[in-house]
Amino acid sequence: MTGIILVGAQWGDEGKGKATDLLGDRVDYVVKFNGGNNAGHTVVIGDEKYALHLLPSGILTPNVVPVIGNGVVVDVRVLFEELDSLISRGVDVSKLKVSGRAHVIAKYHRLLDNAMEDDPAKRKIGTTGRGIGPTYADKISRSGIRIADLFREDILREKVASALDSKNRILSRYGRSEVTVDEVIAEFEPYLERLKPMVVNVSDLLNTALDDGKTVLFEGGQATMLDIDFGTYPFVTSSNATAGGAITGSGVGPTKISSVVGIIKAYTTRVGEGPFPTELHLSRDVVDNLLNGREIPRVTNPQTDAEFGQFLLQEGGEFGVTTGRARRCGWYDAVVARWAAQVNGLTDFVLTKLDVLTGIDKIKVCVAYEINGVRYDSMPLDCVEFEDAVPVYEEYEGWMEDISTAREFDDLPTNAQKYVKRLEELSGCRISVIGVGADRDAIVEINRIV
Ligand code: GDP
Ligand code: IMO
Ligand code: MG
Repeated sequence: MTGIILVGAQWGDEGKGKATDLLGDRVDYVVKFNGGNNAGHTVVIGDEKYALHLLPSGILTPNVVPVIGNGVVVDVRVLFEELDSLISRGVDVSKLKVSGRAHVIAKYHRLLDNAMEDDPAKRKIGTTGRGIGPTYADKISRSGIRIADLFREDILREKVASALDSKNRILSRYGRSEVTVDEVIAEFEPYLERLKPMVVNVSDLLNTALDDGKTVLFEGGQATMLDIDFGTYPFVTSSNATAGGAITGSGVGPTKISSVVGIIKAYTTRVGEGPFPTELHLSRDVVDNLLNGREIPRVTNPQTDAEFGQFLLQEGGEFGVTTGRARRCGWYDAVVARWAAQVNGLTDFVLTKLDVLTGIDKIKVCVAYEINGVRYDSMPLDCVEFEDAVPVYEEYEGWMEDISTAREFDDLPTNAQKYVKRLEELSGCRISVIGVGADRDAIVEINRIV
């Protein structure tokens, strides 16, 4: 019995897609358990680059059974667009299974997500605009539509009509056009015949597989600091992106899990609004250029905070896969890492993008916060305190050598080794894999996770 959970340890985009792809050859099933097409994973295989949103990254590995669990919210149109794009590139997607219990994103969810974000009376969250929050809100308020409902037309019409009764009133208050039952259903209809054979009881499927000695990897979308309970609420996504979400989002019990792996970057990024203590703010000019889609000059020997931020953005290619937004960049935050180790019960870290730090002479790491003159070694209680957190930094010597061909820990320059060892001491669990490039094989594997 081997269940392995893989979660993001920061604010997302840590390289979960690459890590899942890396482990793909060693597992039998890859299950997405939370989120929806708000996720964006880039996986590089040889000369091919794949951008995945709703599908589990395991779909790229032959022989793996990719599964969408009940904890996911599914935009049916997006599901088939993504599948068709992979089919056109020769990927075999025929093994995909989808939980009948997963909730469906409907047209009114997307419209509401965007209307709420544009509301000047509300604090902007910077959502991906994919309808994620409103769909989970309906799930919890017991007015959602599940995948299984799509195949029972009478029930579906009744549910959509009942939902629209209140949604249309809200949409008109926001000055948006109302939606009809037919419009909502028309979005699902073209896909139902193809969807039907994929729909299964995911809990039965996975428990039988585990009993038969198969290995199941649970792939989290988003990350610990975006988790609805443990993240920087309200600047979070609307699901449990932490390890508990793998249990409730798939129907597999916690006793079936043997390891929980946190994916963490060697620095930090965040997309959207919300507090970010170690953020390195870009200069006004660079922000203006980014907003206007203009090129920004390359920084080679960064010295100021603004230059460090720009360097990480460029060298790390930190532009969102889903919305194309420039990601906010900052130093590694060990308080966040310890929090992730704690709330997920992590057994291992995969430390990604160490190569991006090459070329910085002095690298900072946040080891604690100071809030109103008090030192915090662990996560403050809420976002109000967190907004005022001032990082307490340690500083380390960097390295200039290209590390992308390193495959053993000893291949890394001494300063890179010292940096990794210090992060391990600060972060609450062992670092088992180090990412040194975007390619599938650009890793240093210290301990085997599977
Ligand atoms: P995810 O959402 O956690 O799957 O991460 P994203 O795919 O959104 O962002 C991570 C990006 O970093 C992708 O473009 C990956 O190809 C890339 N990447 C992953 N690991 C490494 C690494 O170790 N080094 C470098 N340079 N790039 C990496
Ligand atoms: P992956 O899986 C980074 C952020 C959004 C916004 C907040 C809420 O690629 O790591 P939502 O649309 O979910 O209601 O938006 O969460 N967000 C992500 N940030 N990576 C992601 O996914 C994200 N998914 C959502 O930017 O701040
Ligand atoms: Mg991403």
